[in-house]
This record gives sequence, structure tokens and C-alpha cells, in this order.
Amino acid sequence: MRSQLVLTCLVFLCLVLGGVTGGAAKVPRKNFYKSTRCPNAEQLIRDITWSKAKNDATLGAKLLRVHYHDCFVRGCDASILLDKVGTVDSEKEARPNLSLAGFEVIDDIKKQVEAKCPGIVSCADILALSARDAVSFPFKTSMWEVDTGRKDGNISLASDVNGNLPSPFSDFATLKQIFSNKGLNVDDLVALSGAHTIGVSHCGAFSRRLFNFTGKGDMDPSLNATYAESLKKLCPNPANPNTTVEMDPLSSTSFDSNYFNILINQNKGLFQSDAALLNDKDSVIVIKKLQKDKTFFVEFAKSMQKMGAIQLLTGNAGEIRKNCRVKN
Ligand code: HEM
Ligand SMILES: *[C@@H]1O[C@H](CO)[C@@H](O)[C@H](O)[C@H]1NC(C)=O
Ligand SMILES: *[C@@H]1O[C@H](CO)[C@@H](O)[C@H](O)[C@H]1NC(C)=O
Ligand SMILES: *[C@@H]1O[C@H](CO)[C@@H](O)[C@H](O)[C@H]1NC(C)=O
Ligand SMILES: *[C@@H]1O[C@H](CO)[C@@H](O)[C@H](O)[C@H]1NC(C)=O
Ligand SMILES: *[C@@H]1O[C@H](CO)[C@@H](O)[C@H](O)[C@H]1NC(C)=O
Repeated sequence: MRSQLVLTCLVFLCLVLGGVTGGAAKVPRKNFYKSTRCPNAEQLIRDITWSKAKNDATLGAKLLRVHYHDCFVRGCDASILLDKVGTVDSEKEARPNLSLAGFEVIDDIKKQVEAKCPGIVSCADILALSARDAVSFPFKTSMWEVDTGRKDGNISLASDVNGNLPSPFSDFATLKQIFSNKGLNVDDLVALSGAHTIGVSHCGAFSRRLFNFTGKGDMDPSLNATYAESLKKLCPNPANPNTTVEMDPLSSTSFDSNYFNILINQNKGLFQSDAALLNDKDSVIVIKKLQKDKTFFVEFAKSMQKMGAIQLLTGNAGEIRKNCRVKN
């Protein structure tokens, strides 16, 4: 009788603990902040981000790229936001950071959120949410769901970046491998590359394709020759290091499937890594599917949720930074 009671108690305990660690407490999850002392955090972040996006059509591209760089290096833990301490370079000092921007916007959102409810909302969540909200502003609705409950990391090393972020010169096998290392498949690789429908690039990321592709003063034959000529005018050799060009020409502030249309119909992928998506038959099948806005939005949303869940710090790991640029 007594042993039965003990057993019943044990089973009950397991169910309760199971419910806490599994099920409802799973992180990241929808509306994590609803049940915290900052229930309106996500609404607040959206309002601030939208008011900023109204005056800056390029904000979505900036924040989306910072979020991507964050997630691919040490997971989505806001390590990309940390400033360097002492003499060791942090992630944002690494070479592929070139031109990452929007850090002061994150600082401002964080300051406003801390003023309302200090110590609750992580910088990693603020980055994920504001990137979504800035891209979504023109649509006046959220273009993908952002699960929340991330914690902030306390380590950021430029030396971590190498090997974790693909370069614009990567071939298909390299892209596939790096994404696979993050738990992302070819569907995700193609859908997420569609982020290049917005934003700009500096000349250095593609100028080799225009002038000296194999070291013989030649052009990359996989790049549209007419397009290459117009790029040469914008980016003469040597180019002004400050010049930027739209990655999706004439449509670089419009989040749509045009990236896939010009990639497959006109050979206008700007980087070798964009063009490389045409070199694999599974990838080409995905590109063709994503030429429709509606399909692109659905698939991009799915892949963003996967990307936003890479290697998260949750529970007791990590912290809620007071200032996104420095660990507590
Ligand atoms: C597939 C591998 C990828 C490579 C090799 C790559 C490379 C690059 C490069 C070289 C630039 C231009 C940087 C500059 O010169 O200013 C760029 C811009 C950008 N990338 Fe990617 N990227 C990749 C994937 C992604 C993903 C997965 C996302 C987001 C989901 C993303 C979002 C962006 C955005 C939004 C910009 C424009 C930034 C701005 O206008 O400020 N990229 N990317
Ligand atoms: C990117 O890295 C360079 C050094 O490689 C550094 O001078 C620059 O400030 C960094 N950019 C940002 C936004 O931190
Ligand atoms: C082209 O590349 C070759 C080999 O890397 C190099 O020797 C040459 O100086 C380059 N030419 C120009 C014009 O940049
Ligand atoms: C590039 O921009 C920097 C900072 O604004 C400026 O100091 C520099 O002179 C510019 N370089 C060129 C070649 O225009
Ligand atoms: C190159 O782009 C032009 C439009 O700018 C287009 O008419 C042409 O078909 C493209 N060529 C190739 C080979 O894709
Ligand atoms: C950094 O974070 C790790 C994991 O959360 C923790 O164990 C460690 O004590 C922290 N270190 C510092 C210096 O804050």
C-alpha cells in the first residue's frame, strides 16, 4: 500500500517536472514574454522598430544581416553586439562584418525596453524581433513568427567567425556544408539566400567577377554580361571602398521573390555564392518554387524560425544583458 503511494507520488512528480522542462517551458517559444514582468515586450519592440523603419527603408536589410551573422557564430546569443574588450577583437571586428550596421538602433530599443522593464528582455530576442519587424514594416504585419526566450552570451571572438560564415566566393558544396553544420538544409539555404532581395553590397564582394575572375583579366561567364557592364560603371577597378550597389537591382528595398526571378531567368545573382545556387539540381527546384512571392514568404518564414533557434542559450545558461554592447 505504502509503496503504491510512493510510486504514485513519483509518477506525479515526473509529470510535473516533465511539464516544466519539456512542453510549456520549451524555449524558444511563442509569446515567451507574455508570462514575464514584461508582458508587452514584443509589442513595444515592434512599435519602436516600426517608427524607425518609417524613416529608414534600409533598416530591415541591416538588422536582418546582423541577426544572421549573430546566429551563425556561437548561436543567436547577441554575441555579434558585444564590443571588444581589451586587445582581443570581437565578432563585429571580423573581416566578414564589413559594413554591418544598425547597432545604434538596437542600443536605442534596448534602452527603451529597459526603461519600461529592466533586466527581462534579452538582446538576442531584441535583435531577432527587430529584424523581423523592420523587414515587415512595409507589409504592416509580421512576415514570420519569432519565438522568444533566448539568453545573451558573454563571449564574442573575431576568431570564431572564420568557417562559420560563408564567403561571397563560396561554391555550392561549401554553402551546403556550412548551412548543414547549423542544422539547415538546402531548402533553408535557398530560402534564406532570398534575403538578398533587400540590401546593398560593397564592390569588393563581387568585383573579381567583373575584372579578373581567373587571374587573366576575364569576367565570370556565369554572370549576365549586360549586368556586368553596368556593375563595372558603378564599381570601376579599383573601386571606391565606400561604394555600395543594390543586390537586387531596382528592387533593393522591396522584400519579394524578385531575387529568384533575376537569378534564374537573367543570371543576375550578384555574388558567386548566389550564382552557385544554380549549380545543384535540388537547389534549382527550390529556386523555381520560390519565384512566387506567396511561396517565398511561407518558406522564408519557416527557415527564419530554424535559423533563429540555432544553438540557443536557455534556462540558467546565459544572461539578460543590461547593455547589449557589454556583458554584465
Ligand atoms: C548564403 C550565404 C551568404 C553569403 C555568402 C552572404 C554574403 C553577403 C555579402 C558579401 C553581403 C554584402 C556585404 C557588404 O559588402 O556590405 C551581404 C549582404 C546582405 N546579406 Fe548576405 N550572405 C549570405 C546569406 C545571408 C542570409 C542567410 C541572410 C539573412 C537571412 C543574409 C542577409 C543579407 C542582407 C539583408 C544583406 C544586405 C545588408 C545591408 O544592406 O546592409 N545573407 N551578404
Ligand atoms: C568591422 O571590422 C573592422 C576591422 O576589420 C573595424 O574597423 C570595423 O569597425 C568593424 N565594423 C563594425 C561595425 O564594428
Ligand atoms: C589579375 O590576377 C592576377 C593573378 O592573381 C594578378 O597577377 C594580376 O595583377 C591581376 N590583374 C589585375 C588588373 O588586377
Ligand atoms: C570612405 O569613407 C570614409 C568615412 O566616411 C572617408 O573618410 C573616406 O575618405 C572615404 N573614401 C573614399 C575613397 O571616398
Ligand atoms: C541579361 O540581362 C538582360 C536584361 O538586363 C536580359 O534581357 C538577358 O536575357 C540576360 N541574359 C542572360 C544570358 O540571362
Ligand atoms: C559566461 O557564461 C557562462 C555560461 O553561461 C558562465 O558559465 C560563465 O561563468 C560566464 N563567464 C563570465 C566571465 O561571465
